[in-house]
Amino acid sequence: MAGFFVTDARREGKPFLFAVALIAALGGFLFGYDTGVISGALVYIKGDLGASSFEQEAIVGALLIGAAFGALGAGYLADAISRRWTKVLSGSIYTLAAIVCAFCQSPDQLIAARFVLGLSVGTASFVSPMYLAELPPKRIRGGLVSFNQLMIVSGILAAYIVNFALKGIGADNWRWMLGLGAVPGLMLAVGMAVMPYSPRWLIERGREEEAKDVLRRTHEEQDVDEEVESIKKVASETGRLRDLIGPSVRPMLIVGLGLAIFQQIVGINTIIYYAPTILGFTGSSASSAIGQTVAIGVTNLVFTVVAILLLDRLGRRVFLIAGTVGLTVALAVLGAFFAFGTLQASASALALIALVVYIASFAVGLGPVFWLMISEIFPLEIRGPAMAVCTIANWTLNFLVSFTFLSLAADIGKAATFWLYAGIGVLAIIFFILRVPETKGRSLEGIQRDVTGSSRRRRRHQSELRSA
Ligand code: BGC
Repeated sequence: MAGFFVTDARREGKPFLFAVALIAALGGFLFGYDTGVISGALVYIKGDLGASSFEQEAIVGALLIGAAFGALGAGYLADAISRRWTKVLSGSIYTLAAIVCAFCQSPDQLIAARFVLGLSVGTASFVSPMYLAELPPKRIRGGLVSFNQLMIVSGILAAYIVNFALKGIGADNWRWMLGLGAVPGLMLAVGMAVMPYSPRWLIERGREEEAKDVLRRTHEEQDVDEEVESIKKVASETGRLRDLIGPSVRPMLIVGLGLAIFQQIVGINTIIYYAPTILGFTGSSASSAIGQTVAIGVTNLVFTVVAILLLDRLGRRVFLIAGTVGLTVALAVLGAFFAFGTLQASASALALIALVVYIASFAVGLGPVFWLMISEIFPLEIRGPAMAVCTIANWTLNFLVSFTFLSLAADIGKAATFWLYAGIGVLAIIFFILRVPETKGRSLEGIQRDVTGSSRRRRRHQSELRSA
């Protein structure tokens, strides 16, 4: 990664590129805002609309199912109507759905509205990094992936702050919390309507002169022709879906899917969506729990910045593994807190401390590293579909985990639930140590050779064992 994207874009002397990046990354902000806002709103929706545990899970989960469908359709739309108009569409749907959410009168209506909101969030989660990756010069391209993660966590924090600010305004406060999402949604829709098309999309449509006009605004004049040639080369090499399970891509797909799945099944979004509910379990009142949740959001943002600044210097693996060890320990402590009444009586702050350590560990490791690595480990010609498969898996698992959390906690107990996530954390550490390659400063071909080679060695070893 060529450093922190926005700083580099400024250094490049391209204010235009900086503005485009900010508008385009609003897609990440929407993803984050929605993820964060429901945690505080749910505490009030429960009372106001009389939502049962199952309905609360469905209110959270409908968005995630919608997002998985959104990510599925996003690749098609991005090609058919352009990345730019897909983002305008996504911002417009988001704006309307956020307003509809604010006026819902029953849990069922809210579930339906949040499914539509999810279509837009899932679309944005796929098209934002794609559009951003296709615009800037190569040397600053890598940084924007982490910039998108920074916008996700900024959106989460903004939502927590909105929740905190609105907690005292009465029973309708959750309507404002959800409805205010219309503001960044509208900014995305209007902003993208005046942004350029992606040069790659223009070239694929044979509109080379227009592509050059865009490139002149984002690249040095002498680099424009070379960029057009390299886009043409990659565009002509587009791989097919079938190639995804071919022997050269499969090992990398396993790594990408492993990261996508583990990122969710260590329980990150039970914390992000249900933080006030979890803090409520520890005896905090609804309003102080929302305040403590802001501390969790700030921790998430601060440690994401730390990761962005250090990932390129120290490598991805060390952060991924150390971060996952940290969050596993925090989960084990959280389980112990709920298991032992004496701990609750003598160390009431322990739950909040464990949640903060958990978030910090996720923010330096699995959070940014998943999105970063899926943009690095796949060969260029198959990168779009491969990233789509990983994105869909990530949203689907996000749904499964958050949908089952409250019922799981009620059925097997809070302690066992967090210990279960801790057990999964241990499996994740083992998988990362054995399978995930270092991608820092490596060429794509080198990474590919590593992953494919080690899986071939493993197969040979297994067949030797079988024949022995
Ligand atoms: C994950 C989201 C999560 C967020 C938390 C992202 O990388 O994909 O599911 O809510 O991080 O910071």
